[in-house]
Amino acid sequence: MNQRGVHSFFPVAVQSSTIDGADALNKEIVKELANVRGTVPNSLPEGWSCNLYTTIASGDNLLARPAFKNLQQHIATEAAAFARAYALDIERHPLRITECWVNVYGQGDAQEAHIHQNSAISGIYYVAAPEGCGELIFHSPLSDIMYNPPTRETNDINTPMIALQPTAGEMILFRSWLRHSVKPTRGKEERISIAFNLTM
Ligand SMILES: [Fe+2]
Repeated sequence: MNQRGVHSFFPVAVQSSTIDGADALNKEIVKELANVRGTVPNSLPEGWSCNLYTTIASGDNLLARPAFKNLQQHIATEAAAFARAYALDIERHPLRITECWVNVYGQGDAQEAHIHQNSAISGIYYVAAPEGCGELIFHSPLSDIMYNPPTRETNDINTPMIALQPTAGEMILFRSWLRHSVKPTRGKEERISIAFNLTM
């Protein structure tokens, strides 16, 4: 009998967490976001071909607003846990949240595939994820390889992408180099997410 081992090297880790007390937290955030949307114009970057309301390039740091204080604490806790999975040396090089912005997707809104440059860890927190809202897609770092041989099934080793259906109160963390996109929202209700970057 031949001795054989198939090893899965270089796995890509994605962390998902359910945030305690998310209902109250989301109510507080939604209230503050009404102020944000009334005062901060959409700063959709010119290079994006998608449509959505975003404060990404507005210069407005949501975490400076008191309503986001609790969220900031959850980001710190969850990011530290995710950093431990990658054995990042956050004792000597503490994590810092560098950016935090909101994305609001109406019916038909989506986001093209992208990475978050100049960051170690990125994340998304879902404030509202109604039925029919667009899935978050993570693209395999190998999805651009030159040749994809035919497969009989999709599994964790050969899949080019993974689709996650968001839930309100959920926080997703990933390495900033991991390409991701958002499918179009089908329903009429808004999909609201808070995105953030951390560096070391
Ligand atoms: Fe993103």
